[in-house]
Amino acid sequence: MIGKCLFPVAGYGTRFLPATKSMPKEMLPVVNKPLVQYGVEEAIEAGMTNCALVTGRGKRAIADHFDISYELEHQIAGSSKEAYLGGIREVIERGVFTMVRQREMLGLGHAILTGEPLIGDQPFGVVLSDDLCLNRGGSGVLAQMAALYEEFQCSIVAVQEVPMDEVHQYGVVAGTAERAGLTRVTQMVEKPPQDEAPSNLAVIGRYILTPDIFDIIRSTPPGRNGEVQLTDALQTQASEGRVLAYQFEGLRFDCGSVPGFVEATQHVFEHYYGQE
Ligand code: G1P
Repeated sequence: MIGKCLFPVAGYGTRFLPATKSMPKEMLPVVNKPLVQYGVEEAIEAGMTNCALVTGRGKRAIADHFDISYELEHQIAGSSKEAYLGGIREVIERGVFTMVRQREMLGLGHAILTGEPLIGDQPFGVVLSDDLCLNRGGSGVLAQMAALYEEFQCSIVAVQEVPMDEVHQYGVVAGTAERAGLTRVTQMVEKPPQDEAPSNLAVIGRYILTPDIFDIIRSTPPGRNGEVQLTDALQTQASEGRVLAYQFEGLRFDCGSVPGFVEATQHVFEHYYGQE
């Protein structure tokens, strides 16, 4: 069973300036819950209670969020307001949170490698909290992927079909059908121009990675935008038939963009708020 999940949370969030000038983008609330908490809840639901945060400067609010706030607890103890803390209290009790700082932003691959001391030699999940994934009434996306891992014991990336004029924003995969909704990946390209994309199957920010990925990243040169890309490292595993792409059940919102964030907010307000 996979017990650990890595959260790269060192990015700047420039698309949300000025909101993210002194506040981590992962703390932006979708209705009343910070984005990163949705991701952590999804990991815990999947059994990955050990949450490894790859943070950076200016991200202390994230570490504080997953710790007890004694002043606040004291202030509202015994009042009706205590109920508002219920969800996060449960997360803090069930999860173990470890942190390492990424000193320089050299790409997603580099962020993953920075988390190696927190993960060690075992398969692990990865959540990019910009991608908010919800599956009302069913298992979360990471739990779906963890179940697949039990069956196939190889790296798995979550994918979704996107319009061709959006493929340049994503890692894009192609391969052969393993079964409905599951592709054995042969090719992975990071943010290809539309005419070079091998398909319209885009990688969404949920991964299960086998630990040999760390050594592969170490020997992966910088790729698109001069950054060390996880997609390029995964291509090495894919060439050996060791990556599956999974078209998950549920909805995904691109909360790294303002329109996606607003859409997510509307959706959560309509379908979840006040119903927990
Ligand atoms: C990252 C990955 C990309 C993936 C995307 C999903 O890109 O590099 O392959 O498709 O996340 O959100 P980013 O959006 O961080 O630039």
